Amino acid sequence: MFNLEKSTLAVVTGASQGIGRTIALSIAEKVKNLTIILIARNEEALKQTKRLIEKANGGAEVKIYARDLSSIEIDECTSIMKENVKEFENGVIFHNAGSLGCLDRTINLTDTKVWKQFFHLNVISASLLNSSFIHEMRYNAKNLFVVNISSLCGIQAFKNMAMYGAGKAARNLFFKVLAEEETDVKVLNYCPGPVDTNMVTQVIGDVKDSEVRSMFKGMRDNKTILSTEVTVDKLLGILQAGDYKSGDVIDFYDRI
Ligand SMILES: NC(=O)c1ccc[n+]([C@@H]2O[C@H](COP(=O)([O-])OP(=O)(O)OC[C@H]3O[C@@H](n4cnc5c(N)ncnc54)[C@H](OP(=O)(O)O)[C@@H]3O)[C@@H](O)[C@H]2O)c1
Repeated sequence: MFNLEKSTLAVVTGASQGIGRTIALSIAEKVKNLTIILIARNEEALKQTKRLIEKANGGAEVKIYARDLSSIEIDECTSIMKENVKEFENGVIFHNAGSLGCLDRTINLTDTKVWKQFFHLNVISASLLNSSFIHEMRYNAKNLFVVNISSLCGIQAFKNMAMYGAGKAARNLFFKVLAEEETDVKVLNYCPGPVDTNMVTQVIGDVKDSEVRSMFKGMRDNKTILSTEVTVDKLLGILQAGDYKSGDVIDFYDRI
């Protein structure tokens, strides 16, 4: 159970916009005694997230790290964690940064540079940040939480989303194994549902398959798409209630 009353170190990747910015802001609104680490490439947008957090919670300590997670190595991850480690009641990391990769037919996914960059950002960087977070925080926080922002696309096949889905599927299994091994860490794989962010704009603009394009466009047009606030509210509610088994994959629509 994640107790929001207690001192917390939170790490949010992809905190410059979309779901990640809303996670960072919502945590800041709810946790008074907070140190929060924001990671993404766009420094100006991270500064804007920082300003919004400081407006919501004047006491929060906000650290920003403009980094490209498609090339980050372990030394840099460790130094980010070491710079911020001290005693907290809770430590929580939200592995949220992500990209769509190439939205084309599987038989056309032949550019190894694109594959490597995609996997470094979407799988390898999450593994590196996660290792450094747990190694540095284990003896400094009483309760450790890991949240993997996953997707239905990692479970169900959608045309032209083989690269994206393969990354999410790999992450789900990675974090399930983590839950088996590190029994003192509570791990949640959360599928946020379809959420109105730049990522959806990019799918509608770039995906080759017309059915998939219409599906995403339809959700936006008929307003069944979720806001970042609604899905993040549900995520934080699940974390707080703690009514899941470590390693579970929970979708927004599983908890109505
Ligand atoms: N929107 C949806 O419908 C939906 C559904 C299921 C799952 N998700 C997942 O939710 C997460 C957040 O997505 P979103 O919808 O909020 O999309 P978004 O608005 O496009 O945000 C993506 C975030 O990832 C960061 N990022 C991308 N490439 C990066 C890189 N190379 N290095 C560091 N950071 C990088 C971006 O920051 P910079 O550009 O500043 O680097 C941005 O903050 C993703 O993991 C996505 O797969 C989204």
